[in-house]
Amino acid sequence: MVPKKKKESAAPFVPSERTLPVLAEAIQKCEGCDLYREATQAVFGEIESRSGSTKPRVSIMMIGEQPGDQEDKQGRPFVGPAGKLLDKALEEAEIQRSKVYVTNAVKHFKWEPRGKLRLHKKPTMKEINACRPWLDAELETVKPKLIVALGATAAQSLLGSSFRITQEHGKVQQLLGLPPIIATLHPSAILRAQTDEDRDTYMRTIVEDLREAAKIAGK
Ligand code: URA
Ligand code: SF4
Repeated sequence: MVPKKKKESAAPFVPSERTLPVLAEAIQKCEGCDLYREATQAVFGEIESRSGSTKPRVSIMMIGEQPGDQEDKQGRPFVGPAGKLLDKALEEAEIQRSKVYVTNAVKHFKWEPRGKLRLHKKPTMKEINACRPWLDAELETVKPKLIVALGATAAQSLLGSSFRITQEHGKVQQLLGLPPIIATLHPSAILRAQTDEDRDTYMRTIVEDLREAAKIAGK
């Protein structure tokens, strides 16, 4: 009989101590799924202007999909092109970056080679589930008042695969054991848009949804 493959999970690698520096160090040793093999490093969540507190209280936790090429190299979330657009949307929505914890559903960059480029590859539900213990540890540590899910991957990982972002974005979703969740488009949708009109529409949608988030979280 072929032995059953062990369930992929980050759980054995997550320390019981819930402070951001301890978690951020421990995640570099995570082998909870195969994605660590081809990535430069794990990219843990962070608050842009670190308050120095190891257990900071922020109002909003933003969850993206996974680190991209730049994030993988720099070891920080949302520092590439999508991150620049996220900064712009936050500014327009008058949300202070220092009150926002930014992270991803999956912490290692998944990619495939295309010539010299490393092209983003969508993580599977199995990989998202394997990485979930890190997200849970972040939620326990940061205790945000509100979660903003950026894009379908983050939204569906929290709210289930039948969640439709085009219909439900900007509306508060309640789930047992989690803070309220608002989903919006991923800023990379703006990067992929074919026309200026679409780019404008997507940016306006994100800003509107973030304004709603700010209202609920009290910034
Ligand atoms: N896209 C994401 O979802 N997360 C990042 O950190 C960067 C790009
Ligand atoms: Fe661990 Fe998540 Fe990286 Fe997989 S993606 S190795 S579960 S940190």
